[in-house]
Amino acid sequence: MKRRPRTRRPRKTPPAPEPAPAKPWAGRFTQAAHPAAERFTASLAFDRRLWPYDVTGSVAWAEALGRAGLLSASERDAIVTGLAAVREELASGTFPFRPELEDIHMNVERRLQELVGEVGGKLHTGRSRNDQIVLDERLYLKDILGRLRDGLRRVQEALVARAAETLEAPLPGYTHLQRAQPIVLAHHLLAYVFMLQRDRERLRDCGARADVLPLGAGALAGTAFPIDREALAKDLGFAAASPNSLDAVSDRDYVVEFLAAGAICGMHLSRLAADLTLWATAEFGFVEFSDAFATGSSIMPQKKNPDVAELIRGKSGRLYGNLQAVLTTMKGLPLAYNSDMQEDKEPWFDSVDTLEAILAVLPPMLASLTFRTDRMRRVAGENFATATDLADYLVRKGLPFRRAHEVVGRVVRLALDEGKGLEDLGLAELRRFSPLFDGDVKDAITVEASLRARAVTGGTAPAAVRRALAQARVLLGPERS
Ligand code: ARG
Repeated sequence: MKRRPRTRRPRKTPPAPEPAPAKPWAGRFTQAAHPAAERFTASLAFDRRLWPYDVTGSVAWAEALGRAGLLSASERDAIVTGLAAVREELASGTFPFRPELEDIHMNVERRLQELVGEVGGKLHTGRSRNDQIVLDERLYLKDILGRLRDGLRRVQEALVARAAETLEAPLPGYTHLQRAQPIVLAHHLLAYVFMLQRDRERLRDCGARADVLPLGAGALAGTAFPIDREALAKDLGFAAASPNSLDAVSDRDYVVEFLAAGAICGMHLSRLAADLTLWATAEFGFVEFSDAFATGSSIMPQKKNPDVAELIRGKSGRLYGNLQAVLTTMKGLPLAYNSDMQEDKEPWFDSVDTLEAILAVLPPMLASLTFRTDRMRRVAGENFATATDLADYLVRKGLPFRRAHEVVGRVVRLALDEGKGLEDLGLAELRRFSPLFDGDVKDAITVEASLRARAVTGGTAPAAVRRALAQARVLLGPERS
């Protein structure tokens, strides 16, 4: 790779190297950290995304310390004002991040001390980074759950919009990837709407279980100061305060649960993407991707590849892997806090980012698909797709289903031998197999009749799908968010 020539800027006298800031634990130590150890333990590169929650938690903690009489009103005000300035720096990108200070917690605290002086050293009273990180993580979780659930809803809305257009569009339905029975396209699309609904609910449920304040658990045994944890919980918007300090600082089940919900959701999205990828083949020819959501080939001029869909399918791999990574990290860890737990963040954040990226690209991609409903319709009745309807016809005439299945099986055998479709067989031919066949049989085995027959709740009859569509719209309504 060629280096870009550096643009030379006139330089003033270089600033004197700043002395490395002392660690909070310097008192106990006689040796500085080895640079390799310092780099290895630092988490700032990834936990810096937690800054908004770290600052919010610190403000609430300062208020709680004030209420408990550990800070005077003026001390509390100095700290709260200082934290507002820190927040401002972080928000505007002027915050001086220092990796030597390991993580976001110590970066924020040290900056506060620089801004407000000695009193800043009172903020960490009765608090540990062990309860602080769990607080940050739980606040972050609540935040992203809302965003991801909105994103999922937008995918559902895009699917519902396409379903509304295709309520009467026949499509071959498959089992074992073999033509099975006709369905309507809307039915297929709505299947994903209901799957994603459960994903949305899983995220909501995971948020409800995580809605517990860990702050006040201290390092592991609970803080030694008279903090009103219930008031603090309320202050920070949590439903309750954690009832056990060891549990509070040592479990990461909320991360695992999120990753599990994310993996399941990724599985659903991969199936949707895989369906579309398959449907876009010349062999299926059921859909065409818009150029805006496809790429070409660097060698084959004719190619149009569904990369976006393929990558959605592929990203399920990392969503599963991230779940496995955190589960494995947590396995067998002794109570309470262990540094191993710092490894929860990168897989977690990666899953958040991956899901957000998928949810951003999927709705416009779905909206821009061209469904080849003419081709779907043409093939929906092929390959004996209505053979079950022929058997059902005999059942309606009184034949036990097992007998009817056998009769129609023989009819299909004959048709296969003669290279015909069911619809090509005359009544006389059919009657050789059963005297129950009558003049109304033709109408019973059309694609439309097959669809119409399946009018049960949850079936593919256009009338039933219309009801399912209405149900889906209720799920997306404001009162169900
Ligand atoms: N960076 C740590 C983590 O992610 C925060 C807690 C650190 N506590 C400690 N005692 N080293 O878990």
